[in-house]
Amino acid sequence: TAPIFRRLADLRALTSEWTRKGEEIGLVPTMGALHQGHLSLVEAAKAGCDRVIVTIFVNPKQFNNPEDLAKYPRTENEDAQKLAPYGVDAIYVPEPEEIYPQGFATTVSVAGLTDVMEGEFRPGHFDGVATVVAKLFLQTQADRAFFGEKDYQQLMIVTRMARDLDIPTEVVGCPTVREPSGLAMSSRNLRLSSEGLDIAAHKNRIMRELAAALKDGAPFDPLAAKAEIDLLAAGFTQVEYIQQRCAETLEPLTHANRPARLFAAAWADGVRLIDNIPV
Ligand code: PAJ
Repeated sequence: TAPIFRRLADLRALTSEWTRKGEEIGLVPTMGALHQGHLSLVEAAKAGCDRVIVTIFVNPKQFNNPEDLAKYPRTENEDAQKLAPYGVDAIYVPEPEEIYPQGFATTVSVAGLTDVMEGEFRPGHFDGVATVVAKLFLQTQADRAFFGEKDYQQLMIVTRMARDLDIPTEVVGCPTVREPSGLAMSSRNLRLSSEGLDIAAHKNRIMRELAAALKDGAPFDPLAAKAEIDLLAAGFTQVEYIQQRCAETLEPLTHANRPARLFAAAWADGVRLIDNIPV
């Protein structure tokens, strides 16, 4: 398996050597409990970079819900096994003080994009994400960093953050990897019972039906209301939001008159599930 680094100084020894030789560094930031979605990012990084670093850090600052943090799966050994066939150059599993040393006082906060959807329902979440991702970009000296469209709003926010701060890491978005049922792969799916999985599987179907209906520019509200009823009928216990937004700016769209995406967050079996698809 790839070498695991827990100290920034040790990782830096390696990355400065790579940089000196002119090798391009690819980064795949994760919180572990790796699945095929994460591994698709590793593949993209391997294909596009000379060296690949996968980071595993369950970032406490981005969890607005303490129970969610406590229950977040931690499977480092399995994760290292799963990465073995991909030939990554380093797995960085920082000790918490490498990310948040004593006296840490800085927050990276991206305005606007973080106010809606996940930002509205998970206060503080994206400040935690932007802060840790800025640190990981700088700590690894990555030339390119690979993010999933599964977390589309996050992808937009880290892209904006790197541009605004002149961090020379190029953010690359990669398509969402799904189960055969259409369910977007997620580390949180591990917490679903088999009935929960059956319920969750309906989400993508209902979203695809909604997207198909919206494609011709039909008004959003009545169709979204129906999709919400369908989700509840399928066994979801709560629908936090269903929204249609511009794929570039994330402005809300009542008609899909430019490239649009559909976003939804809903609870099934005690687990909060998000997904998004193009309209
Ligand atoms: P995590 O949820 O572990 O996801 C790590 C990366 O994998 C993210 O870029 C996410 O979008 C991507 N990913 C997750 N499920 C995917 C799927 N089904 N298909 C494709 N890509 C998928 O996102 C985070 O961690 C954290 O917020 C992080 C960026 C690491 C900062 O802490």
